[in-house]
Amino acid sequence: MLAPVRDRTALADLEREITVPGSGLDRLRLVETPFVPEVRLHLAEDAIVWWARMEAAAGHPLPPPFWASAWAGGQALARHLLDHPELVAGRRVLDLAAGSGLVAIAAALAGADQVVANDIDPYAVAAVTVNARANRVLVTVSADDLLDSTVTADLLVAGDILYDAALAERVLPFLQRAAAGGAEVLVGDPGRGHLPTGRLEVVASYYPVPTTEPSVDSPVRRVQVLRPA
Ligand SMILES: C[S@@+](CC[C@H](N)C(=O)[O-])C[C@H]1O[C@@H](n2cnc3c(N)ncnc32)[C@H](O)[C@@H]1O
Repeated sequence: MLAPVRDRTALADLEREITVPGSGLDRLRLVETPFVPEVRLHLAEDAIVWWARMEAAAGHPLPPPFWASAWAGGQALARHLLDHPELVAGRRVLDLAAGSGLVAIAAALAGADQVVANDIDPYAVAAVTVNARANRVLVTVSADDLLDSTVTADLLVAGDILYDAALAERVLPFLQRAAAGGAEVLVGDPGRGHLPTGRLEVVASYYPVPTTEPSVDSPVRRVQVLRPA
């Protein structure tokens, strides 16, 4: 069981890590995102090594630092929004499972009226905060688990969230409720095996999308951007 991490602690931790980054594999660096160079993110040189050091210092388990890598699904979705600003301009956008906040930041850069980035990991919420600052955009953060609710947004975006069967079972009805309520819904998915047959249709496909995610068999992935059929 993971110990609860207070948001202030996570934000203070990340601000300290950014101010005094060190020089090893366990550091964070502000870098251009490989497939979306318009956005710079504080990413781990090696997310696993960073995680191990932070857990040792905390003395209890911490959530895996998904926010510290550039996931292929989020990158393709962010690329799609920046290349199609008409999807975003003047709209209220919710980035579900925001991680680093890449997709939320891309939405803000593409002219969204309001952007909310949601993630249940307090360190992801802190990462969105420092990354939005680094890109000089306004993104509101939310740390609640929204999946059992119905949200109000003009555009709901979700990058690389279908990575686990149990999570996909909760996410898909949530996306469908949002679409039924009038939201446009876009998902960036690199084919992790949990896409439901026939419930989503492909809007665009990107290849090769470079990724910095840990432990991959290939440094590039093919990513589809999809919407509810
Ligand atoms: C693989 S990362 C993708 C992050 C980001 N969307 C991207 O593409 O770069 C998946 C994220 O889903 C978040 N997550 C998992 N369950 C969630 C839930 N119920 N609500 C919101 N976020 C969730 C994790 O904390 C993690 O940050």
